[in-house]
Amino acid sequence: MSEIRLNLGCGKTKLKGFVNVDCEKGAGIDKVWDLNTFPYPWEEGSVSEIVMDNVLEHLDKPKRVIEELWRISADGARIRIMIPWHKKMTTLWVPEHKTEFAPEWFRTFDHRDEWHVSAYGRHGYSPKENFRIVSLRRTRRGERIFRKMPMVTRMLIYEIEVVMEAVKD
Ligand SMILES: C[S@@+](CC[C@H](N)C(=O)[O-])C[C@H]1O[C@@H](n2cnc3c(N)ncnc32)[C@H](O)[C@@H]1O
Repeated sequence: MSEIRLNLGCGKTKLKGFVNVDCEKGAGIDKVWDLNTFPYPWEEGSVSEIVMDNVLEHLDKPKRVIEELWRISADGARIRIMIPWHKKMTTLWVPEHKTEFAPEWFRTFDHRDEWHVSAYGRHGYSPKENFRIVSLRRTRRGERIFRKMPMVTRMLIYEIEVVMEAVKD
């Protein structure tokens, strides 16, 4: 498989062995790219791994982004996405956040998933983009940020992490 691994919207968190991409220039940024601009500058099927850590909620068209991740992914490429837990409703209090994602949002892209088949298939929605969801869980990663803020509600520590693999054939 290809060796291209992308850390999209890396900010200050650079990953070794990855192309660290952000719209803002900065130390350690390998590629400056606005992730609202399509197509992304990687060939179809050329990428083996993608990380998007707390970025998707910042973007204008998240569904379009998932379609583009699928396009640039090789068969079996692993995509790991972390987002705020939707029940925190961060779109109400973080001006940069544009979308909330319930776990089902990701399940619509897994063609095997009953959510995709029953809820979406019934309405004739059948995207060609197909991902196998490997894991989809609520984590306590926000603890690293909110631990020292006793006045904020404990629910702020929760994030959602989805790991999925592109299915191309
Ligand atoms: C909450 S930070 C997360 C940074 C890093 N992934 C981390 O977890 O530490 C969101 C990042 O997304 C980047 N970002 C926001 N909109 C973007 C866009 N349209 N294109 C590329 N990067 C974007 C921001 O510059 C910022 O670095």
